[in-house]
Amino acid sequence: MGLQDISCDFLIRTVWSGLVGCALYTVYLCIYRLYFHPLSSVPGPKLAAVTRFYEAYYNVLWHDGQYLFKTERLHAIYGPIVRISPNEVSIKDPHFYDKIYYIGSGFEKDPAFYSGFGVNHSMFATRSNAQHSAMRASFNPFFSRRNILSLEYAVKETVGKLCGRIDKAVQDKNPFDILHGFKAVSIDVITGFAFDFSFNLLDREDVGKSFCEETEARLGSHWIAMYFPVIHIILPRLPLGLVKVLQPGIQALIDLKGTVGGALTSTVFGILSNPAIGERLHKELKEAFPDPNEELSFLKLETIPYLSAVIKEGTRKYPGLIARLPRLTPPGGISYGQYYIPEGVSISMSAYYMHKDEVVFPEPAKFNPERWIGPDARSLEKFLVPFSKGSRACLGINLAYCELFLIVGSIFRKYDLEIYDTSEADITPVRDYMIGYPMKESKGFRVLARDRAH
Ligand code: HEM
Repeated sequence: MGLQDISCDFLIRTVWSGLVGCALYTVYLCIYRLYFHPLSSVPGPKLAAVTRFYEAYYNVLWHDGQYLFKTERLHAIYGPIVRISPNEVSIKDPHFYDKIYYIGSGFEKDPAFYSGFGVNHSMFATRSNAQHSAMRASFNPFFSRRNILSLEYAVKETVGKLCGRIDKAVQDKNPFDILHGFKAVSIDVITGFAFDFSFNLLDREDVGKSFCEETEARLGSHWIAMYFPVIHIILPRLPLGLVKVLQPGIQALIDLKGTVGGALTSTVFGILSNPAIGERLHKELKEAFPDPNEELSFLKLETIPYLSAVIKEGTRKYPGLIARLPRLTPPGGISYGQYYIPEGVSISMSAYYMHKDEVVFPEPAKFNPERWIGPDARSLEKFLVPFSKGSRACLGINLAYCELFLIVGSIFRKYDLEIYDTSEADITPVRDYMIGYPMKESKGFRVLARDRAH
């Protein structure tokens, strides 16, 4: 036997040993995760308990952003707590939300989820709550209610530009792409605030549609980066064009445009689906602002109860950010019913499930602003969580409300709107890219606008 034969034999034995070792380790891992893991008694599909490929199958491998919806179906089978991956449980119980998401909570963001954004050390994705507080402290003053009120003029200017685009569509008797109009306002405002220039999407012929389609592709790729973190090593070596498609993190702030756009789409579509709602809203706006040329103000708009009700109902029905928000259990763990969830387990809840709870919000599929006006309205507030709750809740909440009130107030004071060639399916989120996106074939959301005579 020559030296070459010996080394070939050695190589084959080494490869075999490696394969056998991997197989044995996989078997051990499966048995451990199924029978000895601290979550082994939590109900859920066995495959999800054994491997994260189960989740990847629904989010990227076969389907596209579907695990949130699959998890909803799993809750229907297994109950309010489901083990959705080897180290993660999902909870669908509105009364549990404030046990995890509250100011001073010891639950930290789960890096296994947030690393997919490729910005591990950012305020948004950092695991450590202490590090987060330090970073957030420097942003808070800029996004405080007081500061947003002082910058209201900039939001008004941008909403004025949106109305200019609608006026043009009225003149030409053309339908207007209101979905991208909404997203454009949001991007133009935030880029104007954050940089010393605005992207001015409202000046573009397509109201920023092509820009938004590009960022949608980027957001979907968050899931790929989450299951295959090696992508963050490969990315810097790829041509720039490809990187732009794959890298989701760098534009995180801009990509948040989908949240305001989603809330507005949901609100305006809900209003227009029922003419009585639109008429009542217009009537109350007219009472508050009798002169059609009077400039609307955020502070005054906030005092119109029916306007607040439609906006709450819009953010309830389709919260822009629908994803589950996984947090790691702190030392001491936490119990849910008979189940003890020890330290270091990922536990997640979603506004999407909260807002569809039939007990808290009867007939959840119905756009019903009345639920925010009746005697029970106050008790419902704690279940409305589009911006999440606690120390890691949305930084932009004051800006978002300022935009929502000024836009909805302005367009329903000024125009008589009608849905154009758009069905509920065109706006219903069916893909979870953190932000909810409708079906790929969606025709968008267009309206026909007419000027109100008064
Ligand atoms: C209706 C509109 C919006 C909704 C529904 C929304 C929702 C949310 C939610 C649920 C979170 C928590 C995410 C998590 O726990 O991982 C969040 C975080 C955040 N949002 Fe918003 N958002 C909206 C608008 C905005 C706007 C206009 C801005 C612009 C400044 C913004 C900036 C942020 C930032 C920077 C964070 C991270 C905060 C932190 O980590 O401390 N959001 N948002």
